Amino acid sequence: MDPRSKVLLLLFLGSSCLCCVASVSGAEQLSNETVILFGPKVVIWSEDTKSVLEAGGGGNGRTTVHIQNRLGGGKNLSLHCKSKDDDLQQQTLAEGQEFVWGFNPNVWGTTLFFCNLMNPTLNFVFDAYDYKRDEIRCSSQCIWLVAAEGMYAHDEAANLWTYMYPWSSS
Ligand SMILES: *[C@@H]1O[C@H](CO)[C@@H](O)[C@H](O)[C@H]1NC(C)=O
Ligand SMILES: *[C@@H]1O[C@H](CO)[C@@H](O)[C@H](O)[C@H]1NC(C)=O
Repeated sequence: MDPRSKVLLLLFLGSSCLCCVASVSGAEQLSNETVILFGPKVVIWSEDTKSVLEAGGGGNGRTTVHIQNRLGGGKNLSLHCKSKDDDLQQQTLAEGQEFVWGFNPNVWGTTLFFCNLMNPTLNFVFDAYDYKRDEIRCSSQCIWLVAAEGMYAHDEAANLWTYMYPWSSS
């Protein structure tokens, strides 16, 4: 091997080594973020939803949030959910559809997803997942129903539905 190609080889090895170091520290930084396991899905709510529940939830600290349009009257619902690190983009749900995403709460206990719900008569912001509120309440499946009168949420720990938020009269 001539000296010039040795230098090139060393440069190549050196830079690929730097790449390894960079990707390792990238992974460490990620541990402070909420890791999205699967991104937004819009599914038609039906008995089949159970398979999504099984695929997305349960075990290993994985949490799945579901937001179902149960407004009635064939009304569409637009929603836009975000966390500090992730933007799940604006979505539109027909009546009976749900929006689902899964994630691992970050190790710092600061995971927070908030959503803006919009349609011609509604503009409402709520926390879809707040680790401090939901760590025990819905560690696996956090299910929200968006109804004509307000929002219902499933309390997994107590296995009951609660009327969480009436639409604020504005
Ligand atoms: C991770 O986030 C927590 C809470 O915001 C903060 O206290 C901590 O310093 C962060 N750690 C790193 C390595 O950025
Ligand atoms: C709901 O959205 C669909 C698809 O965008 C549209 O065709 C339909 O007219 C909308 N329904 C209402 C009640 O606005």
